[in-house]
Amino acid sequence: MTDVKIKITDRDGVLHEIDAPTDMNMNLMEVVRSYELAPEGTIGICGGMAMCASCQCYVKSNHKLPEKSDDEDAMLAEAFNVEDNSRLGCQLHITEDMEGLEVELAPEES
Ligand code: FES
Repeated sequence: MTDVKIKITDRDGVLHEIDAPTDMNMNLMEVVRSYELAPEGTIGICGGMAMCASCQCYVKSNHKLPEKSDDEDAMLAEAFNVEDNSRLGCQLHITEDMEGLEVELAPEES
């Protein structure tokens, strides 16, 4: 089993350094949920279908991540609080390339 270290700043500004498994086919939204870094019901609302933006996060490190799909692009075009470094956590599958990744959860949409 291989883990990568990821730094996640939650919506209260608290930094968490967590181990994320690369061999469980998880995405970043599921990792945030499994560590309970955002209250239940505020993240992953669409179940990871790129249809809600509740999993939006800002990528703070210089990692080269896979390009956005058209679905992700379209959802981010409609979401609030979108920045140049916004991504949908559910569209980011945990891979070994993510060692040391730093992200911040976007504010909850209301
Ligand atoms: S969980 Fe809905 S867009 Fe990611």
